[in-house]
Amino acid sequence: MNSEDPISIPNHLRDGWHVAVLSKELRKKPLAMEFFGEPVVLFRKRDGTPVAMQDRCPHKNLPLSMGKVRGDQIECAYHGWQFNCEGRCTAIPCHGPAERTGKLRFRIPTYRVIEQDGWVWIKDISGNPLEEKLPRSLPRDKNHRWFDIKYQTIASPDLILENGMDSAHTCFVHRGLFRSNPAQFINVVIRGTNDRVVAETKGENQKKSGEKDLRVLTNKKEIRHVDEYHYPGSLQIDYWFGKSHLVTHLHVTPNDTGKTSVYIRMGLQFGFFTRAIYPVIWLITRKVVKQDRAILENQQRMISRMGKRSFHHSLADMSAVMLSDLYKSGPRANKPEWEQEENVSFKL
Ligand code: FES
Ligand SMILES: [Fe+2]
Repeated sequence: MNSEDPISIPNHLRDGWHVAVLSKELRKKPLAMEFFGEPVVLFRKRDGTPVAMQDRCPHKNLPLSMGKVRGDQIECAYHGWQFNCEGRCTAIPCHGPAERTGKLRFRIPTYRVIEQDGWVWIKDISGNPLEEKLPRSLPRDKNHRWFDIKYQTIASPDLILENGMDSAHTCFVHRGLFRSNPAQFINVVIRGTNDRVVAETKGENQKKSGEKDLRVLTNKKEIRHVDEYHYPGSLQIDYWFGKSHLVTHLHVTPNDTGKTSVYIRMGLQFGFFTRAIYPVIWLITRKVVKQDRAILENQQRMISRMGKRSFHHSLADMSAVMLSDLYKSGPRANKPEWEQEENVSFKL
């Protein structure tokens, strides 16, 4: 399997929901972020509803994120012009006797935003809002303990997603923390549908895979492992060790060219041991994230230097290839029933 792909972010992704910020990050002050290369300001109305619009004052182009929130409006820091959540100018403090904001025809471009499960999600305004699907619901189960990690990196969003679905790298990049030398053949059933790729791994045994940290607590049970990619930018990675459960949600948001924000949320449920193991998992996750980040940034640097990708895949890359295809071409709107199933076996 060979592939040569230009480095680009397909435009159709903008119509899908991406995480703009963590809910807890958006407080009283306006907050700046970038979405597909565009500056965006987010703020909350009096009732707490989040609002997003282009972060550029139409008067003299100061970032609105430098301003203040006044009621349900945002006020520019330069000359105090105010804008409502539809992006319309509602006040020009230093106006002439006959000058009224009603005469101003411009409107700041706004975005669709929704707050759900502790994230503020953003998407382009397109289509009929009544027919629009909400972001996938990901409630935080009370039996689990949860934590969030967020970072920005210079790597294409699809490379980050592929990395999350790539089991083979864990034996090398995370050796000792999470898997060690490939020691057993595992079977993976991969199902691709219209807007997702689900890969279920069977036959992995903790004793052989050398997951020292968790083995003690989980009684050497076989691991059940499912990776899911949900278009456009979300992964869910589940591990079950008997009744114990570890789930990772990872969301990528394209910022400026080459820069991507990564939002990781991890939930763990190890019964009686949950509290005790929480700081251990937190520490391991931070280390794992750091290791992946170093790999991804170096991979991206090489691709950028060479001007294109030239990948030569092996069987262990099957789910990443299916993910990448969906990411690039988008959901098959005219074939909602589309389905592909692959069974692969490789050493892990
Ligand atoms: S630049 Fe914003 S009010 Fe003048
Ligand atoms: Fe990794």
